[in-house]
Amino acid sequence: PVDVKVNALLQKMTLEEKVGQMAQITLDVITKGKDRFTSDEPVVLDPKMLDLAFGKYKVGSVLNTANNRARTTEVWYNIISEIQKKGSGRLNIPIIYGIDAIHGVTYTAGATFFPQQIGQAATRNIALIKEGAKITAYETRASGIPWNFAPVLDLGPDPRFPRIWETYGEDPFLTSEIGKAVIKGYEGDDNNISSPFNVASCLKHFLGYQVAFSGKDRTPAIISDQALREYHLPAFKAAIAAGAHTIMINSGLINGVPVHANPKLLTNLLRNELGFKGLVVTDWGDIENLYNRDRVASSNKEAVMLAINAGIDMSMIAYQFEPFCDDLVALVKEGKVKQSHIDEAVTRILKLKFKLGLFETPVTNFKDYPKFGSKEFELAAYQTAAESITLLKNSNQVLPLKKDIKVLVTGPNANSMRTLNGGWSYSWQGEKVDEFAAKYNTIAKAIQNKIGVNKAQFIAGISYKMDGKYFEEYADNMDEAIAAAKDVDVVVLCLGENTYTETPGNLSDLYVSEMQTEYAKKLAATGKPIVLVLNEGRPRLISKFEPQMKAVLQSYLPGNFGGDALADIIFGDVNPSGKLPYNYPKFPNSLANYNHKPSESRSVVEGVYNYDADYNPQYEFGFGLSYTTFSYSNLNVSASKIKASDVLTVTVDVKNTGEREGKEAVELYLADLYASLSPDVKRLKGFQKINLKPGESKTVTFKLSKNHFSFINNESKEVVEAGDFEIYISNLKTGFTVQ
Ligand code: IFM
Repeated sequence: PVDVKVNALLQKMTLEEKVGQMAQITLDVITKGKDRFTSDEPVVLDPKMLDLAFGKYKVGSVLNTANNRARTTEVWYNIISEIQKKGSGRLNIPIIYGIDAIHGVTYTAGATFFPQQIGQAATRNIALIKEGAKITAYETRASGIPWNFAPVLDLGPDPRFPRIWETYGEDPFLTSEIGKAVIKGYEGDDNNISSPFNVASCLKHFLGYQVAFSGKDRTPAIISDQALREYHLPAFKAAIAAGAHTIMINSGLINGVPVHANPKLLTNLLRNELGFKGLVVTDWGDIENLYNRDRVASSNKEAVMLAINAGIDMSMIAYQFEPFCDDLVALVKEGKVKQSHIDEAVTRILKLKFKLGLFETPVTNFKDYPKFGSKEFELAAYQTAAESITLLKNSNQVLPLKKDIKVLVTGPNANSMRTLNGGWSYSWQGEKVDEFAAKYNTIAKAIQNKIGVNKAQFIAGISYKMDGKYFEEYADNMDEAIAAAKDVDVVVLCLGENTYTETPGNLSDLYVSEMQTEYAKKLAATGKPIVLVLNEGRPRLISKFEPQMKAVLQSYLPGNFGGDALADIIFGDVNPSGKLPYNYPKFPNSLANYNHKPSESRSVVEGVYNYDADYNPQYEFGFGLSYTTFSYSNLNVSASKIKASDVLTVTVDVKNTGEREGKEAVELYLADLYASLSPDVKRLKGFQKINLKPGESKTVTFKLSKNHFSFINNESKEVVEAGDFEIYISNLKTGFTVQ
């Protein structure tokens, strides 16, 4: 049994060896040569640094790839094997290697890239999302890496935040349901991570990340205990119950306290209350940050003490491993960190290494993974992209376009694989995507493939600068494009954002850039119908020109097959079925979520003051059109009066009343009409994606129980209060009473 093996090993380890196990470095600490983001030099391990990190400091974990410096799997296999050889030390303890494979393995040019999480959520198709996670697990293991820093289970309720696209959107229920399935996709249905096809997942970023007051990365958040438990905790709780093996911590401050130094969250809540038994890892250099940035510690040593005592098991130190290890050893010797605490952390780390089978097979061999980048995997990625794309507007059924017309494809996002993929694609900020994904189709290329180059002209009009200034763009033959627009039947205008993640993605203005706005208006002034394709990590405001657009398609960051999926939808080979995973806001000062409080959507006029509602999203959460129509009828509940402990069955009939086959995500919303704490106007509590042929009907059934009726009250307790509830499905409404 693993426990016996771990104990036996622990007995043999020195304090220094134990502390080394708690340290994780980035690959570029032990490689020679230039910057890992831009250099094309081959990766060469640095013997001096290997000696220092592994020989002297006994470091037990490494993260990151060599980005564009190790592009063939053979080269990578050799590097990672060498790291295992040098890193295993006198006790033969394997290195655990971690990576951010958040929409596919950030590795070689051949890996399968899925839509980013935000697009996956728009599919509302749990089985498809789980299948994607399984494929990513396979390809991550094929790359010799057993630990994936995914899924992101932060909520994404603030469109200003640069990492919204890494989330499953703004809703706790949607995030929880997807999260549970993705854990099983990564780790296997039985969480058997010793399978060479499964990886250990890493829930992140515990807890309440992405709701900073400023809307900017790693800036302070104020979150009440009630709100933390109501909105931010459920997805983590569900994923922990689903058996997730590791968790990464929020880099920010909540109520003034850095989460990395907060024992209330890391020990009381995570360990004692939720019963999490797995490994807790920091986010990058967040222990040093307690001193250097947040100033809750006056030295690195104090920072290490605070974090370890709060409940951190492993420090993703990145670079500064020497002070971390020296300080931690000293702290134990001085009695400021208990030896038993170190033993517990190392026990968790070693257990994970045993469970992953790393002692027997430290590196899995790429040769054993024939399905890596296969057609079968590509098809799953394409299917996910196709089901994610969300039709937001379709005036006079301008879409689908006929294949015999002439189109102009234009805009900064029209011909870029980089913008289709987003960050964490081949590298952190997606620097080299255009090069490594050259074999896939951009939107322009896919449209040309579909209707022929002579009927689909591409002129950029605007292009992004690719020199690291992620939001800079320049006019690129705009006049030529506007002239060309006059000669075509329809303009496909692809706007949005360039790639980014984390702090480089911070933004001051949520509107689509001024240059893109002006361009859209000028194209509209030609009088040609415009199909706006949005390709963006967060909903950039389009209200200044949306009325002039005939159709709007949100593609999110759809991955390597996003261009093909878009072309298929635009020309009607695929019927769109995505639904928004967030409220798409209209104005900068109206950023309410769909599940807001009643006071956020009052529509009253009192005296001379206009208290008109601020609640006016451009498009609401759950919205998404189809090329067919669906009608809903017979919404029934199994009882009109229930006890809180009862299970309520809800049924509804859905019929395809149009002329073509289509998929529909049927969504159930619940509203607690009166409660001791102002209730949310409605909450998603069920969704199912169904396929219907023209004329076909299906009855969809939902089961609701206590955890659907409950909320977190002012004492931070989960309660069900007696009273009236309403259920909304599409345009139908019914009610019941909890007695
Ligand atoms: O996993 C990531 C995290 O999401 C952001 N900071 C760096 C980590 C490791 O790359």
